[in-house]
Amino acid sequence: MKLLLTGGCGYIGTLLAAKLLADGHDVTVVDTKWFGDHLKRHARLQVLQADVRNVDAIPMKGIEAILHLANVANDPCGELDSKLTWEVNVLASKLLVERAIEHGVRQFIYASSGSVYGVKEEDEVTEELSLVPISDYNKTKMISERVLLSYADQILVQCVRPATVCGLSPRMRLDLSVNMLTMQALANGRITVFGGDQTRPNIHIRDMVRVYQHFLAKGDAIRGVFNAGFENLSIMEIAERVTETAPAEIVVTESDDPRSYRLSSCKLLATGFEPAYTVQDGIDEVAEAFRSGQLTDDPGCYNIKTMNRVMSNGGA
Ligand SMILES: NC(=O)c1ccc[n+]([C@@H]2O[C@H](COP(=O)([O-])OP(=O)(O)OC[C@H]3O[C@@H](n4cnc5c(N)ncnc54)[C@H](O)[C@@H]3O)[C@@H](O)[C@H]2O)c1
Repeated sequence: MKLLLTGGCGYIGTLLAAKLLADGHDVTVVDTKWFGDHLKRHARLQVLQADVRNVDAIPMKGIEAILHLANVANDPCGELDSKLTWEVNVLASKLLVERAIEHGVRQFIYASSGSVYGVKEEDEVTEELSLVPISDYNKTKMISERVLLSYADQILVQCVRPATVCGLSPRMRLDLSVNMLTMQALANGRITVFGGDQTRPNIHIRDMVRVYQHFLAKGDAIRGVFNAGFENLSIMEIAERVTETAPAEIVVTESDDPRSYRLSSCKLLATGFEPAYTVQDGIDEVAEAFRSGQLTDDPGCYNIKTMNRVMSNGGA
């Protein structure tokens, strides 16, 4: 297929682009390259440095499916410039889906977020439960989903609500809980846990990529909104698991982040998807990469640090 992948230079996008190329697809990546470009060049890969807000600059001719990952991609970055966050995460989604429909694109897959649920006491947070997004980032994900789904009579829309992702990518993120705690243990011998009781679901990055491949392969056999997260763990449980691989002291401090929920992915599993990787795989590979010198505690791996720099240079 001829695919458009927005955010293809990101943590997930970089690995996803490589897999889509290996599957035989033609891939056009559109990305501002805020966090650089770690994509390996390929004859069927076109990489365009562009902003999704500038929708007319996005080549759409012949595109059969869009995987839309380009967003301001976490809570702290979302708070930096609220207008930018809403423009990128919501307005651009609307412009993109309308342009996709004009050009006869058949499928639109959106990277939403499991964080749209906010604080939930239920043991099984399914797609039917109410959304109580807390931050600007969570709110934009909820609204963007709704905007996209309002076009579902004109294009196949699939919204994925991923858990927090873990594991290695050529464009690494160390601001995601499993990766972050593992790096703290390795680099400092000390893990700082904010609160610790909040439960969050997790998904390994290679499973995350497999979820997007699954949606592409299934086509219009599945539509709508799907959770994607498989191990619901408290932050303290993650920290304890990390210390089994990378011994470290655990220090607990107060948290101002109440988000806590246990994601159920039964709906996704019922479509035939099966996870193949675990949180432990993520911990092990981050530890191995650090110990072999391939991975360091680089400030560029923390989105907020890079976004602060991008903003102060007037680059966003
Ligand atoms: N990583 C996670 O744990 C996680 C969990 C749930 C949802 N998601 C969602 O998955 C998607 C990918 O996440 P990620 O972890 O790879 O994040 P990332 O920040 O590494 O990647 C996002 C990419 O989008 C690009 N981008 C941002 N704004 C853009 C714009 N206006 N125009 C073009 N490109 C732009 C950035 O340069 C970056 O390369 C995001 O939408 C994110 O919200 C991620």
